[in-house]
Amino acid sequence: MKKYIIANWKMNDTHPTAVQYVSILKNKKKLLKKENVVLSPPHTMLADVARDIKGISISISAQDVFPEKEGAYTGEICASLLKKAGATYVIIGHSERRHKLGETDAEIAEKVHTTLNEKLTPILCVGETLNERNLKKTRAVLKRQLTSAFKYVKAKRRKILIAYEPVWAISTSGSSRKITLTEIDESMKVFKKVVESSVPKIYKSSKIHYIYGGSVNEKNAKNIFSFSSIDGVLVGGASLDIKKFQRIIEAA
Ligand code: PGA
Repeated sequence: MKKYIIANWKMNDTHPTAVQYVSILKNKKKLLKKENVVLSPPHTMLADVARDIKGISISISAQDVFPEKEGAYTGEICASLLKKAGATYVIIGHSERRHKLGETDAEIAEKVHTTLNEKLTPILCVGETLNERNLKKTRAVLKRQLTSAFKYVKAKRRKILIAYEPVWAISTSGSSRKITLTEIDESMKVFKKVVESSVPKIYKSSKIHYIYGGSVNEKNAKNIFSFSSIDGVLVGGASLDIKKFQRIIEAA
């Protein structure tokens, strides 16, 4: 099965490198065809990157969405506008939005709903903080985040990617605790079970894809891809460097 390799460029000024980045990927058509490669540039670059990748198998994701359909919401971007700019995926509920910007489970549920309604694919992010993990609350936190995210999902829908991203494992989280390969493998098995018991039964299991995110890089990618419960990776820091990102794709 094709693996997902998703680059999350976050709020970095990737303008100067994006053109070069895409032109290097353009020469890797064969490699790209073997996997599902998704780039998530900042909103202001969505349309440009979408135009530049035409003809090669790369998809575009937005990093967030506003749940309303349209209207007087200064500064926000709705799903239909993201789609017009060329996005086919939307990252929802990233821990930086949950913890730095106060995004709630309720808002995330609305975002999942609006994204599916617009026929875009959500990349729903869930994960526990280090404190929650130390208190052995990981399962409970994941269950809460997942159950509420699917609150408005009523009918059988298109595919959804669910990314397990332990907040403390994200390279820029400031945590001194590093995740090990064994922890990734074990956590993903637990995560899969929690997803299966939390997501409504109307959602066909074949439509759910399991993603891992948190300090994935060109050195550990091969091992991570070898874990049976992982369908793909969400890459932050290492995706900003095309050489590292290319090696991650090759590792898949
Ligand atoms: P990282 O970020 O790869 O830099 O740990 C992952 C993410 O925040 O999605």
